[in-house]
Amino acid sequence: MTATEDVATGLPVATFTDAMSRLVSGLAVVTTRQADGRPCGLLVSSICSYSVDPPSVLVVVDHASRCCEPLTHCAEFGVHVLGTAQERTARTFASRGADKFADVAWEWDGSVPRLCAVPIYLRCTATAVFDHGDHTVLIGEVTRTRVEDAEPLVFYRRLFDWRLRGNGAA
Ligand SMILES: Cc1cc2nc3c(=O)[nH]c(=O)nc-3n(C[C@H](O)[C@H](O)[C@H](O)COP(=O)(O)O)c2cc1C
Repeated sequence: MTATEDVATGLPVATFTDAMSRLVSGLAVVTTRQADGRPCGLLVSSICSYSVDPPSVLVVVDHASRCCEPLTHCAEFGVHVLGTAQERTARTFASRGADKFADVAWEWDGSVPRLCAVPIYLRCTATAVFDHGDHTVLIGEVTRTRVEDAEPLVFYRRLFDWRLRGNGAA
């Protein structure tokens, strides 16, 4: 087994991103309604359970994301935790496509664009938002859930679904 070690001052970006790529993540699509009434959404790995009382999740959004502004000002947003059947959906929402919703089944749930056929759906009321560096931190209180058993879509060492492909644990 080989190991590398770096100290923090002037740490190269690649060193940091390589370290973080070894953190196993679930993946979710976060959606909301834009000011013009159209849906928007992006793929995130920065989703976690924030608190149980009240039931809340935390998401971190890059200022460069087109969804950042709508999410910063929204009353509600949706979190869709993906399963292995949604790898294509993951790639679509990680893209800068013009209409990411064109090829997925979705519907309005109040003001939230809800993707159909995902294993876990959380409807959230935005309760806190703040900027730090080049990202915005968004906390939402969960007001509705739908949960279905499915194999999770797992991101590890820059690969989707690494475990099922058996190529991630070098
Ligand atoms: C595996 C993976 C995880 C990602 N996680 C995040 C994230 O947590 N936050 C974020 O802002 N962008 C994340 N992104 C990047 C966005 O999905 C990507 O920039 C997207 O094009 C933004 O779309 P938009 O500009 O339409 O909002 C991730 C991308 C990938 C492939």
